[in-house]
Amino acid sequence: MLFRVARSRDGGNITHFDLYKVEVTRGMTVLDALFQIQDKMDPSLAFRYSCRGAVCGSCALLVNKEPRLACRTQVSALPAASLKLKQFTALEYRPRGWRPDKEVLIEPLPNLPVMKDLVVDMSRFYSALEELMLWTEPTEGEGPREQSPADRQRIDRYVNCIMCAICYGSCPVNAERPDYVGPAALAKAWRFYEDSRLTERGRYLTAASAANGTPLCNLVMNCVRACPKGVAPGGAIRRLKEQGTSP
Ligand code: SF4
Ligand code: FES
Repeated sequence: MLFRVARSRDGGNITHFDLYKVEVTRGMTVLDALFQIQDKMDPSLAFRYSCRGAVCGSCALLVNKEPRLACRTQVSALPAASLKLKQFTALEYRPRGWRPDKEVLIEPLPNLPVMKDLVVDMSRFYSALEELMLWTEPTEGEGPREQSPADRQRIDRYVNCIMCAICYGSCPVNAERPDYVGPAALAKAWRFYEDSRLTERGRYLTAASAANGTPLCNLVMNCVRACPKGVAPGGAIRRLKEQGTSP
């Protein structure tokens, strides 16, 4: 199978695409295909991974114009445009010569600066967590903080976020506004707001409602369609919008 892979000669921007012929084996993932290219054809190809089991979030990239975890995407079952994402420039762009019926197209995740080839700079994505102060500051001693199963269930879906930035890379607002904190940060703000163990939960609402937070979201829901872990940030953002800034 042919893989057409985005390259950046010196980092910074995609400069060209290279074509590789990959020997597909049973159960092969897109990440396995990248290993084969790197091991046997081109050791200069840069990509990022860690767990190989869909839990670290570091292998996110575009496969055939849709954001995926490379380690969880089987080459033999590559879906054709199944996510039905609202399009924006990076998703609409078609590199010259790409034959979708014959070649798998691999590109870096959009909306983040390219460092080299398929590796993007995640600083902007992570700094949103810091900007919204998405952590807890316990003030009530060292004892355990108990939570009922029902209360835990309310935050279950949001706790599952692996920080892969697929939602960020699929969001048309993030494409236009680099200052937008993005779907994952807002889902995490809702996760803390809904956590029954915390006091001063209102601060997460206030932070999320800043001018570069929930007001910028148009509820396009690309984040919900693309998230590989079923986190559904769009639902959290809708609830944050409904709550406003009042705890
Ligand atoms: S919300 Fe989903 S897509 Fe976004 S960072 Fe978390 S796991 Fe990834
Ligand atoms: S390598 Fe960890 S999620 Fe893919």
